[in-house]
Amino acid sequence: MKFIRSYFALYSLISVILLSVLMRVETRADDLRSGVVTSAEFHASEAGAQILRNDGNAIDAAVATALALAVTYPAAGNIGGGGFMVIRLADGRSTTIDYREVAPELGGRNMYLDTNGNLIPDLSTHGIKAAGVPGTVAGLALALKKYGTMKWADVVEPARRLAYEGFLVSKHLASSLKSDKWLTKDPESCRVFQRNGNFYREGEIFKQPELAATLKRIKEIGPDEFYRGETAKQIARFMKSSGGLITEKDLSKYRAIERKPVVGQYRGYTIITMPPPSSGGIVLLQMLQTLESFDMTQIGATSPQHYHLLAEAMRRAFADRSEYFGDPDYVKVPMKGLLDPAYNKSRAQDIQLTRATPSSSIKPGEPQPHESTETTHFSVVDAHGNAVSNTYTLNFLHGSGVTVPGAGFLLNDEMDDFAAKPGAANGFGLIQGEKNAIAPHKRPLSSMTPTIVLKNNKPILVVGSPGGPTIINSVLQVILNIVDHKMSVMEAVNATRMHHQWMPDEIAMERRGTQTSTVDSLKSLGHTVRLQGTIGDVQAIGVDPITGAVTGVSDPRSADGRAVSVPAKR
Ligand code: GLY
Repeated sequence: MKFIRSYFALYSLISVILLSVLMRVETRADDLRSGVVTSAEFHASEAGAQILRNDGNAIDAAVATALALAVTYPAAGNIGGGGFMVIRLADGRSTTIDYREVAPELGGRNMYLDTNGNLIPDLSTHGIKAAGVPGTVAGLALALKKYGTMKWADVVEPARRLAYEGFLVSKHLASSLKSDKWLTKDPESCRVFQRNGNFYREGEIFKQPELAATLKRIKEIGPDEFYRGETAKQIARFMKSSGGLITEKDLSKYRAIERKPVVGQYRGYTIITMPPPSSGGIVLLQMLQTLESFDMTQIGATSPQHYHLLAEAMRRAFADRSEYFGDPDYVKVPMKGLLDPAYNKSRAQDIQLTRATPSSSIKPGEPQPHESTETTHFSVVDAHGNAVSNTYTLNFLHGSGVTVPGAGFLLNDEMDDFAAKPGAANGFGLIQGEKNAIAPHKRPLSSMTPTIVLKNNKPILVVGSPGGPTIINSVLQVILNIVDHKMSVMEAVNATRMHHQWMPDEIAMERRGTQTSTVDSLKSLGHTVRLQGTIGDVQAIGVDPITGAVTGVSDPRSADGRAVSVPAKR
């Protein structure tokens, strides 16, 4: 008996030693065990995953995923829009690609106002005049050229094939295409996406021959084809014949820009995120810095006090957003002042624990002037530890609703993200200022917040969401849930979300998971609370800092989203 016990003791000791040797190997950050692509649409995640299987890196996979979403997720996936990509390379470098649309040269400050200075309804949100010059193809090409490993043609091919051979229509896609009256109003959109009223049904195959032909040209001739070739001519011809403003010159002048990320700290975690012309990164960091004054762990993730403090941090940061943000190539954004921890701590000082501060009494703060609903997000991590967080968009569902005849793709309505009339609310109800007024070639302000979070200099979270201004708050809440409330990535993404954007002065709370008692408590603090459907559609990847295990999470709110894992080759 004694012999058996000591045999097992020796056996256990050897196992523990062996395991700890193996574990040490596994904890090396360059030994992440698998890659993951998570996006809002299964075929697109799979297209990216296939690139990883073919030894492409996260940037290669991101470009393939983005182009595939342009085929399979026409509500927001696009080549006719724009967006932002945050990249963190395995060697520790990080960067961002700004491929936001720009206003056409013929655009101007008052282009959406009537002769009395009033906003003309729908002009900046739907129809041909709502479109900015698209940036997606240029942005993806820049990312691939600088940080990818594969040929352009090889990452375009999966999307071309999906467009040419078609793919199964999901219930969600069928309903989204059928229900958009703006697609019906545009003859080409109605033909391509609604089959002239014989709507696509779940389970049918959706082929897009014109889009396949466009992708084939872009694949064979290169990304420049979109800006100087037949596609550019198609866009410009259509604009000219239909009262639009984008010209061949606008297209040939378009440039994607590589920008330094904004980087901040929250309780020992490093947050790498998007600088202007997105407000997302700075507003996110401002809110985190404001909340650092409170013991959020102690307060608890679902307590009314937690939501109250979030609302107070959100209203203050969004008040600043209304005043200080615009395209940094045109206006001075006081980035250092806005990101000064002392400034955001001072913004926290008038937060009362027992009373809501009316937004009417919150004005934009005074940072030191040191210097200058529908969107989609996907996240990619590869087995080497490269990470990509990408959010891009047409702006509202199906963008402007206008399809370029013969080219098969929708144009954005990103012009509505400008302050078409400074001080008046835009389509998201956001009040925006002079700094975000329209000017030729200027980029409209965004809320997109592709973000990568590091612990001890290694990525632990790649995250982002669609949802206009709610994007920033969705990303905020996922980070708080992980850092302060120690949730798993799945729990953090699943948890009930809320939103406050200063004006209108109300908390929007997801109906799912919200207790009546929480609403009552918030009302008793003086908040106006509105219950609504879901907020955001987060596509996140968590990396376990100890084991390196990678977990992709496609938001349970996402109808067709999927995380696809690719085990590392042994
Ligand atoms: N189009 C939404 C945003 O960029 O914030």
